[in-house]
Amino acid sequence: MIKISPSVLTSDFLTLKSDIEKLENAGVDMLHLDVMDGIFVPNISFGVPVINSIKKHSRIPLDVHLMIDRPHRYIKEFAAVSDYLGFHFEAGSPVKETLCEIRELGCKSCLTIKPCTEPQEIYEFLPYCDMVLVMSVEPGFGGQKFMPSALTKLSLLRDEIARQGLHIELEVDGGINAETAPQAIAAGATVLVAGNYIFSAEDMKGRVEQIKAL
Ligand code: DX5
Ligand code: ZN
Repeated sequence: MIKISPSVLTSDFLTLKSDIEKLENAGVDMLHLDVMDGIFVPNISFGVPVINSIKKHSRIPLDVHLMIDRPHRYIKEFAAVSDYLGFHFEAGSPVKETLCEIRELGCKSCLTIKPCTEPQEIYEFLPYCDMVLVMSVEPGFGGQKFMPSALTKLSLLRDEIARQGLHIELEVDGGINAETAPQAIAAGATVLVAGNYIFSAEDMKGRVEQIKAL
C-alpha cells in the first residue's frame, strides 16, 4: 500500500490546522515538513517551534526533511518533534553516526539524496536507514517539475534494498502528480511526498483519494 506524505511547504500557514485535519480525514499517512536554512538550499522555511505546534495538533506521524548544513548539530532538537527524521547525504554530517543517533533518539532514520548524487554512494548506509528519500527536484522550492532521472535511482535502490534483505521505505519528493506518481510507484517508491498537487486543489481530499487509487 502506497503511503502519502503531503508537504505543507506551499500551504497557507494560517489555515494549516484545518488543512491538516482535512488531510488526516482524507487518509494521508504522514505529514512532510521541509526545514530549510538558506545555506544548504537557497530558501528559508521553518524550524522546531513550528513543528512543535503542528505536532500538538496532528494525529499522524511527522516526516521531517532537513535541508540544513551539517544537520548533526541539530539532531537532538529535531528528534524531539519528529517521527521520521531525514537529512541530506550531501550536507556535511557523518552519515552513519547521524543515522544511528536518530534511531537512538527514538525516531525512524531517513537518508536523502539530491539529484546530483548516485544511489551507489549510499548503499553502505542502507542498514542504518528506515527510509531513503530520493529527490526528484532540486531541493529548495515546491512546485517544480519532476526529474525523470529519479526513476532509475528508485529502481536501483529498490533492487539494492532487496539484495541486502532490508525493509526500508523508499520515498520520492518533488513534482509528484497524477502523471508522475504511477511512474514513481512502478520504479519502487513506497512513500509519495506531494506538495503543490495537493495544496493547490480545491478538493484536497479528492486529490489524496485520487493518488491513493493509482
Ligand atoms: C522541495 C521540498 C519538497 C516540496 C515538494 O525542496 O523538499 O518537499 O515541498 O513540493 P511539490 O510536490 O510541490 O514539488
Ligand atoms: Zn521535502
